Amino acid sequence: MSEAAGRLDELVEAAGEARERAYAPYSRFTVGAAVLAGGRVFAGCNVENASYGVSICAERGAAMQAVAAGETRFDAVAVVGSAEEPTPPCGACRQFLSEFTPPDAPVVVETPSGEREVWTMGEILPHPFGPEFLS
Ligand code: THU
Repeated sequence: MSEAAGRLDELVEAAGEARERAYAPYSRFTVGAAVLAGGRVFAGCNVENASYGVSICAERGAAMQAVAAGETRFDAVAVVGSAEEPTPPCGACRQFLSEFTPPDAPVVVETPSGEREVWTMGEILPHPFGPEFLS
């Protein structure tokens, strides 16, 4: 088992804890996310704003924490949303995560009651736009 595969429960737990700190007074939809990078766990939650459009998703919050700590390769991603079904990352977050997450890395999505889906980054964002197109 890869190191990431053995740490998915821990990653989901970190995402669930971060969700408790979500600032979502407008949508009331709370999300927590965590990424495993460089052997460490970085978590984030959605942070909304009275100017709705500048709100930030949990996944991008977690990714920002990792990159700010110097980690630019994510081995796994976990998301816990408040919907009754496992809620995958939005399109913008898929693109943002794909910059740092290889196609075979697991993306684990869980409900607050523990219903889990596991995809890979490549499954949720096939044919990503990446830096190779910019050269
Ligand atoms: N949200 C996330 O944090 N991640 C997603 O992938 C989907 C949506 C947040 C944004 C907003 O604060 C709330 O959920 C409702 O859209």
